[in-house]
Amino acid sequence: MSMRIGVVISSTRSTRIGDKVAAWVAQQAPEGVEAQLVDLREVDLPFMDEPAKPAMGDYVHETTKAWGEMVSGFDAMIFVVAEYNGGYTAQLKNAVDTLFAEWNDLPIGVVGYGYGGAARAVAALEPVLATVKAVRVPGPGLLIGQHLSPEGEFLQAAPADEMRALFEAVRAQAPALV
Ligand SMILES: Cc1cc2nc3c(=O)[nH]c(=O)nc-3n(C[C@H](O)[C@H](O)[C@H](O)COP(=O)(O)O)c2cc1C
Repeated sequence: MSMRIGVVISSTRSTRIGDKVAAWVAQQAPEGVEAQLVDLREVDLPFMDEPAKPAMGDYVHETTKAWGEMVSGFDAMIFVVAEYNGGYTAQLKNAVDTLFAEWNDLPIGVVGYGYGGAARAVAALEPVLATVKAVRVPGPGLLIGQHLSPEGEFLQAAPADEMRALFEAVRAQAPALV
């Protein structure tokens, strides 16, 4: 049985490289994994404006309902995390905060990219994913300058094997699909 993994582009700026990074990540998906890009620019959520706490599941906005259905349609996700000023992007935080139950028990692989592999952004995401009860699966940090160029072109040294291992680790967290 094929597993569906949503690969989230966390950056929405017009000159981003996040789309190229996420495409490279998706390309490393092993056989039996269908990796689908999820572009937060297209998801286009407003800043969190649900009247009730998302944990109540009482969504009123169509954008929230559509986002919830999209997330629920995946067996797992991989967040491709840009580092902005030592944190992750506001768009990714907003996308997480907008839902709740959809994240519970969902395996989420985390891949950072930046000059230090986005280590600080990835660390900042950890308590957030724990709070929404996702199953966080740590992945490689992609180093701009070593693994990819500042323009998002991937280099020979890019850790493709580690990326494939992350897909396998994520798959292992969804035992019904193994
Ligand atoms: C607002 C902003 C803040 C940034 N802060 C960091 C940072 O803290 N650490 C880092 O390694 N790179 C930082 N950078 C450089 C980014 O790693 C680099 O621009 C990368 O391309 C951002 O991903 P994106 O192009 O997909 O938006 C920052 C870039 C922007 C636009």
